[in-house]
Amino acid sequence: MLIDVRAVAQLAGPDPVDVAGALAPVFGAIGSAALDLASLRVVCDWIQYRHNFYEPVEIRPVLADRPRQPEPDGGEPPARAGLEIAIDMRRGDDLAARISNALAEQAAPAEAVLLEPWRPASESCLWRFNTLYWQALSRWEEATGRQYEQALPGGRSEARDTGVAGDLIRELLRVWDELDARRALPEELYIAELGVGNGSQARTWLDTFADLDRQHGRDYYRRLHYLMGDYSAHVLDRARKAVAHHREKVSTLVLDATRPQQTLAFLRGKAFCVYISNVYDNLPTDDVASIRGHPYLVEVRACLRRADAARIARRYRTRPGELAALIHRLLRLGPDLLAEAAPGRLPAPSDAVAFWQATWSALRLQERYVPLDGLDAYQVTPAITGEILRPLLESSGDVRMHVSNGALASFAGTLPLLHPFGRLQCHDLFLSGPGAYLTGFHGPGKYDGSVVNWVNGPLLALAGNRRGFDVQITPAGRAGANVKTLTAQVRD
Ligand SMILES: C[S@@+](CC[C@H](N)C(=O)[O-])C[C@H]1O[C@@H](n2cnc3c(N)ncnc32)[C@H](O)[C@@H]1O
Repeated sequence: MLIDVRAVAQLAGPDPVDVAGALAPVFGAIGSAALDLASLRVVCDWIQYRHNFYEPVEIRPVLADRPRQPEPDGGEPPARAGLEIAIDMRRGDDLAARISNALAEQAAPAEAVLLEPWRPASESCLWRFNTLYWQALSRWEEATGRQYEQALPGGRSEARDTGVAGDLIRELLRVWDELDARRALPEELYIAELGVGNGSQARTWLDTFADLDRQHGRDYYRRLHYLMGDYSAHVLDRARKAVAHHREKVSTLVLDATRPQQTLAFLRGKAFCVYISNVYDNLPTDDVASIRGHPYLVEVRACLRRADAARIARRYRTRPGELAALIHRLLRLGPDLLAEAAPGRLPAPSDAVAFWQATWSALRLQERYVPLDGLDAYQVTPAITGEILRPLLESSGDVRMHVSNGALASFAGTLPLLHPFGRLQCHDLFLSGPGAYLTGFHGPGKYDGSVVNWVNGPLLALAGNRRGFDVQITPAGRAGANVKTLTAQVRD
């Protein structure tokens, strides 16, 4: 039996977490449930996100083989090679009962209303909830009475930091002067930003640029093109208003940050800076794990627990069995059209938003570990195979980590857009070494209506290095903040 305690920071200090107390009921439950101890893993985490996708105790099968596709409904459960009991020590009360209940529910999976079949996490419908949040942001904010930025780490985005923008711009002016002296500076000076939110970063950047350029006296502002890209037309509208005083310099583009070249191919080799903050942590990701030396993909299944489903169904005059269809309609139509389409249950858009929020709050992920036939048989992005994971996955014993598929696709797709003297700059929740996955929980969590997952920084660094880029991950602005700055530039 393997016991993995990841709540490392909580083990020290004046009020350390009681690991022995948390584990005692595990041993009690193990005795009565006749579990195979040789293949049992107990993982103790500290899930810092008050809103997340897990119950305080989760049971996760480790499968012996990859199941046949598609898996038959109601058929025999696939053979198991082991079992994981995952405990959130932040909610460690009443563990004995929780463990027994979770083991019993595991044996009777009809306890939940399923929203999808088993699939890699990056394909789960939880990402459709995430997209809906950005597309219908005003509706959500109207209902909560607070702006999305208040849910970000530290309550505001690093994007507003004029000091950070100033340093970057001064360096840019220096590079442009040098290129100009060699007659190598292009006439058009492109800056792009992906995932613009409310436009604060763009406004901060453009205001600071206009000031510093005036002092610098070379009128680079005249040649500047600032491109703002986002997949939410609603967000882009909002951002455009924030930079209305720079309207001549700004273009907005609806684009998918995970496929920047689809829209920005014309920028290839031309962008002096691509800026992206608090977006990578919001892009779809899978998790992989190394268990006893073998690689596994974590498959998930979004669901509502039976009690939650019954409560929501009662409130919206439907049956638990019809809830999944109503939720998928919400994800397809959004709250305004859903209210028009189902006026009996949801008379006004605000009712549809309340339904959305209740469902999101109750949304849980069941998880299981599925063996990978080989890392090269797993596709991280259309262009990158799982082989890239090998040095990280094989360096830390038993470990589970994010693949950061969306972030990696975005990063690798953005590098070719850079001018040889350009740089990619990201502020985000980057992990800076694979060992960090052994010492704490790094997502997924819920920030209001969106998803947050820390980003596998070493993986991005590896991908950048292999393409001839120097990648640095350094602490960002505020002392003690979790957000870090990743910078990628062509290697000298
Ligand atoms: C947390 S906000 C960050 C906004 C801003 N950069 C900041 O730091 O305040 C995430 C932004 O990324 C956008 N976004 C998320 N996924 C995206 C995708 N796949 N393609 C384009 N934009 C995306 C959202 O619409 C939203 O504007």
